[in-house]
Amino acid sequence: MASNIDSSTGFPILEDADFKVLSKLIYEETRIVMGEHKKALVTSRLGKRLRILSIDSFSEYINFVQSKNGKEEFENFVNSVTTNKTDFFRENKHFEFMKSTFLPAWEEAYKRGEVQNLRVWSSACSSGEEPYSILITLYEYFGNNMDKYDIKVLATDIDTSVLEHAQNGVYRDDVVAPVPINLLKKYFLRGKGDNDSKYKVKDLLKKYVIFRQLNFKEDNYDIHTTFDLIFCRNVIIYFDKDFQKYLFTKLHSYMKDSAYIFIGHSETLFGVSDKFKYVTSNVYERL
Ligand SMILES: C[S@@+](CC[C@H](N)C(=O)[O-])C[C@H]1O[C@@H](n2cnc3c(N)ncnc32)[C@H](O)[C@@H]1O
Repeated sequence: MASNIDSSTGFPILEDADFKVLSKLIYEETRIVMGEHKKALVTSRLGKRLRILSIDSFSEYINFVQSKNGKEEFENFVNSVTTNKTDFFRENKHFEFMKSTFLPAWEEAYKRGEVQNLRVWSSACSSGEEPYSILITLYEYFGNNMDKYDIKVLATDIDTSVLEHAQNGVYRDDVVAPVPINLLKKYFLRGKGDNDSKYKVKDLLKKYVIFRQLNFKEDNYDIHTTFDLIFCRNVIIYFDKDFQKYLFTKLHSYMKDSAYIFIGHSETLFGVSDKFKYVTSNVYERL
């Protein structure tokens, strides 16, 4: 019998017809566009699921994931197709901007009684490095006065496995490497014994963040506040222009007047929305 295993990858061969079905399913659920050049990526990401489930072919997997019994697997399917690469203080200019421009202006506005709270949304937060970098930046600025103000960070993602990691707030030493040593000591607890290469975010920061699942494609985000800052970084590259337009109309509606939104360095709002003004380093202001 001819084997359907690709000897170079060890995964079953992903036939074009099955790839089309999977790409469509992925798009419908996440709005992530999986073009032809993403076939190897889909093969390896979902091939791992096939292995875990002892399923021999992608067509069988497709049937399973769409069946009544496949509801639980559907979540793993979505989690597998997302790309979660992130870092502490990734694209540090945005945190510098917070510190040097946004926070002093916010503080002045607070003193004048023009603002009552500070709300930040890390809208594709992955495993938490971004929202914790935001919180470190806030705590470094306000110090022990943090509690004097009404400050909250909302951190959301479609992927439930990265959200669990984010909520736990435990990171390997190589992951926390971008955190300066003085900040590492201040905001993380180092594990003991077998865990001495792991660092856990202190409750001192954690108490200001709420993690929850949110899929950008939903009509209703179930968010009942407006934000001063939204981080929407390194995620729109996976979407097509139409969905980017939809998303930025939505995000605009969740921003306070003149609030800022941050996007990744390889992303642009050019041709996506004219409701934002470019400020600097992929920081935009709401118009
Ligand atoms: C590459 S990570 C970026 C993480 C972080 N913002 C950064 O810049 O370091 C992209 C994240 O977007 C999330 N994502 C992808 N599609 C999404 C969707 N439809 N709704 C919400 N989050 C989504 C993924 O799960 C992933 O964690």
